[in-house]
Amino acid sequence: MAPGASILFVGDVVGRAGRRALKALLPGLREELGPTFVVVNGENAAGGIGITPKEADEIFELGADAITLGNHTYRHREIWPYLDERQEIVRPANYLRTQPGRGTCVVERDGVKLGVVNLSGNLFMQASMPALVAIDDALREVEGADHVLVDIHAEATSEKVALGWYLDGRVTAVVGTHTHVPTNDARVLPGGTAYITDVGMTGARGGVIGVRREQSIAVLRTRMPMRYDPAEEDPWINAVLVRASEPRRADSIEPVLRAVPSE
Ligand SMILES: [Fe+2]
Ligand SMILES: [Fe+2]
Repeated sequence: MAPGASILFVGDVVGRAGRRALKALLPGLREELGPTFVVVNGENAAGGIGITPKEADEIFELGADAITLGNHTYRHREIWPYLDERQEIVRPANYLRTQPGRGTCVVERDGVKLGVVNLSGNLFMQASMPALVAIDDALREVEGADHVLVDIHAEATSEKVALGWYLDGRVTAVVGTHTHVPTNDARVLPGGTAYITDVGMTGARGGVIGVRREQSIAVLRTRMPMRYDPAEEDPWINAVLVRASEPRRADSIEPVLRAVPSE
């Protein structure tokens, strides 16, 4: 009989401010909430876009059991071989088989197995297959897992909501990422799957979804391209805690939104 578990899922870690928030808050949250597993979306960890082995190692050292990614997966070439070598970091499962890395992994802690699946949405994103088709193959890859968490990295709320319903009763949690803004719709669906459209980002709330606000405002006002730098002001962690006592069924999902205390 598979024991219960809880999963702390952390939304997109954006740049230095995001890494700082993770470092400042994750140890305390692990102590306070006692999650069995910690899964972190790291697609913006390096300077706001993509990830390199350095940031991935840093996130693992802070206690992440697995890292999920998204549309910025391949931005930095150094991460390509790392994605093939390290099992616990996953890129969208609906990418081409020829692209580096894998879309699923299974991690184990305290005798409990958690399957982690990363998926990319299809609106404004370069995924090779529809998320709602690729997920069936991905779930076969994590068949033996007691619990399964699916990170749907997508722009459209409709794709995420539809995936939640499609997977209700089959996985422990479907969590949305990519928009960097947390949504207020966390709930357990009737079949027992915990769902949220977007977890939000772990980064500087004083910017515009991770970018310095004056730069974003200037681009929106001038229609001219400009350099974007990652924002630093007011770092927060945006996460959710999913608790589950039955295999692949959630009891609850609650947002965990905390500011880094100012010095
Ligand atoms: Fe992101
Ligand atoms: Fe993204």
